Amino acid sequence: MRAFLVVVTLIVMAIAAPRVAAQKVELSIDASKPGAKIDRNLFGQFAEHLGHGIYDGIWVGSDSTIPNTRGIRNDVVTALKAIHVPNVRWPGGCFADGYHWRDGIGPQRVVRLNPDWGGVIESNTFGTHEFMDFIDQIGSEAYVSVNLGSGSPQEAADWLEYMTAAQATTLEKERAANWHPAPYKVAWLGLGNESWDCGGNMTPEYYLDRMKSFSHFVRNYNPAQTEKNQMLKIAVGPGGGEQRWTDWTETVMKAYQQHTWSWDINGLSMHSYTVVKWPPAFKSVGFGEDEYAQIIKTTLDMDDLIKKHSAIMDKYDPQKKVALVVDEWGSWYAPLPGSNLGFLVQQNSMRDAVLAALNLNIFARHADRVRGANIAQMINVLQAMILTDHEKMVLTPTYYVYKMYVPFQDSTFVPVTFDAGSYKHGDFTLPRIDAMAAKSKDGKVWVEITNVDPHQPAEVELNVSGINAKSASGETLTAPKVDSVNTFEAPNTVVPKPISARAQGGKLILQLEPKSVTVVSVEQ
Ligand code: AHR
Repeated sequence: MRAFLVVVTLIVMAIAAPRVAAQKVELSIDASKPGAKIDRNLFGQFAEHLGHGIYDGIWVGSDSTIPNTRGIRNDVVTALKAIHVPNVRWPGGCFADGYHWRDGIGPQRVVRLNPDWGGVIESNTFGTHEFMDFIDQIGSEAYVSVNLGSGSPQEAADWLEYMTAAQATTLEKERAANWHPAPYKVAWLGLGNESWDCGGNMTPEYYLDRMKSFSHFVRNYNPAQTEKNQMLKIAVGPGGGEQRWTDWTETVMKAYQQHTWSWDINGLSMHSYTVVKWPPAFKSVGFGEDEYAQIIKTTLDMDDLIKKHSAIMDKYDPQKKVALVVDEWGSWYAPLPGSNLGFLVQQNSMRDAVLAALNLNIFARHADRVRGANIAQMINVLQAMILTDHEKMVLTPTYYVYKMYVPFQDSTFVPVTFDAGSYKHGDFTLPRIDAMAAKSKDGKVWVEITNVDPHQPAEVELNVSGINAKSASGETLTAPKVDSVNTFEAPNTVVPKPISARAQGGKLILQLEPKSVTVVSVEQ
């Protein structure tokens, strides 16, 4: 009898419970007006010698019991192949400006300490050949950052010759003796990292002098990269929006405008983490709506930051030859309790999925200037795609956003208009909805819609002009709570599920859950 009463009470409560009405949103897409190309390199990754980002995350060694190919984890490779990683930035970060490439080649590696990240032993077991093997296994390209801080132009020039020479130079022969006769492709070259801080605390003028010299002497000799597919050189750029950073952009871009044949750059890097304040204090798991709203509000500042630096770049490079490359971005929270503080270990929640989608959409809207971005960092560090613990591996909510966004790689931006509405929490007022659309190479229209509101569902009415839209389907990512995470024990708490639109009166209607990221393709 008692059980019966409980069931009846529950049914009555469910019927009487206030249903949160779906917010109606009209979204218009003009598929006949394609804009800039959304470069696949906006979906780049960053892997630094930091914590368990490389060792354990990628590299376990060939004698490990963890299934591997020449020392590189098979599970991680399979997962990364599925998100079509366009490039991986390596070996840092701050680590790059203390890295000496000779330590990491040949049978005898030089063992050092990693002073930037926890002062731990750096075995250099993972060096140039292992990185290139990894890149090859996941089907990606190399973005190598050379040591402009403590190294010399000659050291960097030798590294590039070692990696890329096809003719029988001493360095080419040394590479061949290390089992790689064919030259490697280096798609991107970072000329230092944060040279205004951990990269050597330089003034913009001093950096510029050094950078010009590196730009001239560090050459790529790969015959496949001399005419077409030339290596892109990325100079250090700003790390924020204050005058110190606008001065930096001014100095580098003004010099670029007058550059001669003897030096050149193809990109200016920008670093911007979502952190609210230093040192990072926000929890990555076990937080509430206050922290959700504040982090999302802060992450949206990326748009203004890009506008600010793009405006300076436009003055000196109106043809937009130099790309703005946001090669470090993502959430940076307090280290997980009990972890090594220098390893930057954090969990990854539904909030990070929303944050990732909002930033990727911002980059896409600036695709004419922003042609590269690398989330920090790929595995086990900061806003990671993948977390590992010995033989265990789990894919994060951010990983799934990257997977859902694969169709946007090298697609063409299509304008979307909508009334975002607002989500209010305490002192925070944020746009409730964000959206982005693009046409993939096969002519398909893809639409992404983020519902930032953690409580209210949204009913989206899609009007697609320029094509005869009949239906739309794809995937949606949501979770029970904003701080829901995937763990080794419960890996499927935040995973995408199928979604499709219902056709109604010539329009397509999509029902979006609160705090969700959705990607659909429109069928004609
Ligand atoms: O991603 C962690 C660190 O953040 C990088 O090494 C450095 O470039 C930045 O300050």
